[in-house]
Amino acid sequence: MRIVSGMRPTGKLHIGHFFGAVKNWVELQKDNETLFFVADWHALTTSYKDISKIKENTLEMVADWVAMGLDPEKSILFVQSKVKYHAELSLILGMITPKSWLEINPTYKDTKYNLLKIHHVEKEYKDKLAPLVDIIFKNSPVEVEDEKMFKDIMLDSLTDAFIKLLVEGVIDREKLGELNLSKRDFYETDTFGFFGYPVLMASDILIYNADGVPVGEDQLPHIEITREIARRFNYLYKEFFKEPKAILTETPKLLGTDGRKMSKSYNNTIMIDETEEETASKVMKMFTDPTKLRKNDPGHPEECNVFSYHKIFTNTDDVNNIELDCKSGKLGCVECKKMLAKNLNAFLSPIREKRKEIKKDMVRDILEDGNKRANEIAKQNMDAVNEILGL
Ligand code: TRP
Repeated sequence: MRIVSGMRPTGKLHIGHFFGAVKNWVELQKDNETLFFVADWHALTTSYKDISKIKENTLEMVADWVAMGLDPEKSILFVQSKVKYHAELSLILGMITPKSWLEINPTYKDTKYNLLKIHHVEKEYKDKLAPLVDIIFKNSPVEVEDEKMFKDIMLDSLTDAFIKLLVEGVIDREKLGELNLSKRDFYETDTFGFFGYPVLMASDILIYNADGVPVGEDQLPHIEITREIARRFNYLYKEFFKEPKAILTETPKLLGTDGRKMSKSYNNTIMIDETEEETASKVMKMFTDPTKLRKNDPGHPEECNVFSYHKIFTNTDDVNNIELDCKSGKLGCVECKKMLAKNLNAFLSPIREKRKEIKKDMVRDILEDGNKRANEIAKQNMDAVNEILGL
């Protein structure tokens, strides 16, 4: 099978990227023809204002890929913008893609929401909502130990809620002025390139006539559109494109250290490129079962984020003991976290060692070679498409 997938140039990766994507890629490269690329054009569809880090992020990310086990001998690792055929095919496929297919795409709304957060709206909302959070804190129905943490989480959630109201149209966009937000903020996320995101993504996949695309669940609507575009091309002109299948990444439950989705913007990640001490200190600050206040209180491992980490990073025997000893009250959270820190670091150690050996020039060479190989395959398919179209 030929397998293709891409990742936006987010820079240094965390363990969420490993379990959410790269681990699966590494397994697939064993028995398949695999192509993995840095989706730098896709980065522009959303963060076109902030272009300062694309190149640096590309190199950092690919270095982490290789450290995590992607093998440039087995997989073609390349950069989207270095294979111009993606763009050429995207232009063609855009001609036959009905606008309505893009408008109903659920990821569109979701991403729009995230975008709105990323652009300055989030900060402005936060400033406005902060006084409200003080009031909530003073009237909190539960006793709170850590005032700052309480306020941070409350502010994030409230801000989220308000942005959702905006995206869903519950807050009239015309009233944005009263909220001291410019209409421009909203329109800045409303570009042609962002709207056409799925067409570009379809081209990334179809230009290689891939059989399978490993992705997370959030990307399924995009794969569905890709299949629809392939069918439409085949129906209109000639049977040429395969209908690529999504290969769902089975992700173990791995949240951020604060129990929310792991994300750099929440500052709750475990990075590949951090020291063992940094990792240990993050683990020691992790939230545990809130009802286990004193060491000998009985705990509820199934509701504890630290325990869900243990299930991934600790051997089965120890996990079973931890479960029993936590429940009985024998094991305290501090001890439990120390074990986790040790196991997490042991797991990351070989990846970190390897990462240290990978220099920027090596990554440049890997990509140069990958770009060349990807171009060869893409060219063949693009030539065929142009032939079919009589161009
Ligand atoms: N949209 C994907 C994401 O945000 C990245 C991506 C771009 C991709 N093109 C692709 C993934 C093609 C798979 C195949 O994660």
